[in-house]
Amino acid sequence: MSALVLIAFALWALFMRFLPEIVQFLKIRQFSTTLPGPTIGELIEVSKKGGILNWLQEQRKKHGSTFRIWFGKDLMVFFTNPEDIKHILSNNTLLTKSRNYEIVESWLGKGLLTNSGESWHRRRKLLTPGFHFKILSEFKEPMEENCKILVSQLLAKADGQPFDIYPYITLFALDAICETAMGIKKNAQLQANSEYVQAVQDICRILHKQSFSFWQRFNILFKFSGAGKARDAALKVLHDETNRVIKLRREMLKNSQISTFSDVDKTDDIGSKRRLAFLDMLLISQIEGGDLTDREIREEVDTFMFEGHDTTSSAIAFAIYLLSQHADVQQKAYEEAVELEGREKESMHYLEAVIKETLRIYPSVPFFSRKITEDTQIGNITVPKGASISSLVYLVHRDESNFKDPEKFDPERFLTAEKDLHPYAFVAFSAGPRNCIGQKFAMLELKCSLSYLLRNFEFLPVENFKPNPLAELVMKSGNGIQIRMKPR
Ligand code: HEM
Repeated sequence: MSALVLIAFALWALFMRFLPEIVQFLKIRQFSTTLPGPTIGELIEVSKKGGILNWLQEQRKKHGSTFRIWFGKDLMVFFTNPEDIKHILSNNTLLTKSRNYEIVESWLGKGLLTNSGESWHRRRKLLTPGFHFKILSEFKEPMEENCKILVSQLLAKADGQPFDIYPYITLFALDAICETAMGIKKNAQLQANSEYVQAVQDICRILHKQSFSFWQRFNILFKFSGAGKARDAALKVLHDETNRVIKLRREMLKNSQISTFSDVDKTDDIGSKRRLAFLDMLLISQIEGGDLTDREIREEVDTFMFEGHDTTSSAIAFAIYLLSQHADVQQKAYEEAVELEGREKESMHYLEAVIKETLRIYPSVPFFSRKITEDTQIGNITVPKGASISSLVYLVHRDESNFKDPEKFDPERFLTAEKDLHPYAFVAFSAGPRNCIGQKFAMLELKCSLSYLLRNFEFLPVENFKPNPLAELVMKSGNGIQIRMKPR
């Protein structure tokens, strides 16, 4: 009898412990019935088949600009209307990342991308000066050195025959972020293949599959599966590399006898205040007694090495593909690149429009999500606490009411009609307090690399080739970027 009482009491205590979650879940369930969206069966079907972006496009056609999807027990509401995107991105209470970012934490920990709350705020404040536009002047030279290496690596391919340019671009982008923000010469372009780049590709694929799989979302099951073991093998390569980069840079600082921020001022030989690269700021802040642990430094290095090269490689590669398909656009971009050679830090109106139009059609980050921490009104719906929301950039950019003939590649629309554009119709870098911290860095890298390539090569199309965009952590083409090239 007393055992029965004990069991009943334990069950009651358990029920009371989870009562708030149960009530919240029921509220979310009730709310979900007010929104249209596909069934879980349809989601499982598409996650097996692939082609999630096209499928999301079909969902919008079928259900309208706002629809919901259940990912297991998590409800995600997708928004595609620029006015709703404005509400989301300019709302200072919507800064908490949704649960689907937790999957990436095995790799990036609580780095700037995945972090939330006060800890995110402190880190964002610490890291922002590392990407101040003034520091970009110091980045331009190492970036150009790497553009020259890229051109020399590609010379042998400029024979008019089709090839996949993507691997060359990724190695270039990895060298660029390592040599600028991390202050380390990696020379990935000069090696036959990069274990790091391969591991990034592997982990993006594995984590993407995990986020759409019901059973793989249970960590215990996932860890012992084939995919879990492959993830851990990739993680080892990735974390070993970031530890190596940190160790190297720490030694370099020690050898130059820099251990405080004031030592940096002293070493300045041209009288103006020298600015620190991103990794130096983290390391010196730690030496000076800041509260960053070694693990936290590694999380940021992992985050910036990944975000800093995978996003830009995707954008550069898609831009090259689009230029190869549009000779008239390529000619104009080439003429501007010749005219403004060496002045890539200044405005290059036409190339900037080409880059924006590329990111409109192929946004490197096709959607990004937040957790609702208090019931929040967005447009004409009130999303309950505990649900998640997503800005579905890929479809915002394909909204016919903002972009006439949205599938057409037409950089002119950013030159002629930009002032008439809804300010949240183009949000490739997100907007508001959690926007892309590396946006200026990315634009400089894109302008430098594309203008170098344009001055040296003519991009030509490959018959019947069309990229297959995949919404992995960063959007990339599943069948590479096939082009042909001739020397200028
Ligand atoms: C074409 C290039 C790029 C695009 C399209 C892009 C896009 C974005 C977007 C949409 C976000 C918001 C993501 C979210 O809310 O989940 C973001 C955040 C971020 N990006 Fe970028 N990015 C690019 C390049 C870069 C580069 C070069 C770096 C680093 C050097 C970088 C570092 C970051 C970081 C650390 C965040 C998180 C910021 C925070 O939450 O405070 N990105 N980026």
